[in-house]
Amino acid sequence: MKDIFSLQGKNAIVIGGAGGIGQAIAKGLAFYGAKVGIASRKLENLEKAAQEIQTDINKEVKIFQVDSANEDSIKALAGKVVAEMGKVDILVNSQGINIKQSALEFQMDQWDALFNVNVKGVMMCCKEFAKIMTKQNYGKIINVSSVRGARACGGGNSAYNSSKGAVDMMTRTLAVELAPFNITVNAVGPTVTETPMMTKLLTDNPALKERLTGAHPLGRLSVPEDMIGAAVFLASDASNYVTGQVIYPDGGLTAIG
Ligand SMILES: NC(=O)c1ccc[n+]([C@@H]2O[C@H](COP(=O)([O-])OP(=O)(O)OC[C@H]3O[C@@H](n4cnc5c(N)ncnc54)[C@H](OP(=O)(O)O)[C@@H]3O)[C@@H](O)[C@H]2O)c1
Repeated sequence: MKDIFSLQGKNAIVIGGAGGIGQAIAKGLAFYGAKVGIASRKLENLEKAAQEIQTDINKEVKIFQVDSANEDSIKALAGKVVAEMGKVDILVNSQGINIKQSALEFQMDQWDALFNVNVKGVMMCCKEFAKIMTKQNYGKIINVSSVRGARACGGGNSAYNSSKGAVDMMTRTLAVELAPFNITVNAVGPTVTETPMMTKLLTDNPALKERLTGAHPLGRLSVPEDMIGAAVFLASDASNYVTGQVIYPDGGLTAIG
């Protein structure tokens, strides 16, 4: 029987690949055989992430600078990735930001800034890399959403949660539209994960950290490596008949409702 989880011969680009979750997913894809490129804005973070992956699993990853909120920058990235890697089988959108403000005071320029990265930026990356995938008649797109796309919370998260709800519907809609090209589009929905995005909030609020930990049936918060299994599955031939889904490696949080 063929190893349907193998990523040998596949090329992957991970946007936000120097972030906590993106770096773990990039490492996982490389470990299972893919040639991987990571992309984001800050070169020093990309270099550090590439070095850490090299040290951890002895795999070289390529680095690309991009501002995924800027369409020209994404177009340039797509061109560079094809020039350097030849083809793109797997796109992971792990870029994202959170701006927390009270719903009553939300500054709408900040709302737009968040949506530019979390929604429009994800759509623009899907659009540019799907164009490459249609020519190959093969592609796997994995969007990093959140449990907050489907389950609300307070704490000034109206923009963030709405953006993830949009990512979930974008995932389902692109899955339908790109299916004729043999491109699957799925998402992973992490819960609170100890990454640079969350470190300060959790360190500054030990009581919040304890409460959040207790809310998860598995009794701990997530670590970035918790995303690797779902990402490798969605990137591999094991998921060829899975599209338009959000998988929740969330310690059971969404099982509660
Ligand atoms: N951590 C959590 O608790 C949690 C929970 C659920 C979902 N998520 C989601 O998981 C994804 C990854 O988050 P994370 O926790 O790994 O956060 P992170 O460590 O802050 O990583 C975010 C990444 O996004 C990149 N990025 C931000 N804006 C960008 C832009 N305009 N262009 C290109 N890259 C950009 C950042 O790189 P540069 O700043 O260098 O550009 C960074 O590499 C996000 O979509 C987040 O919403 C996180």
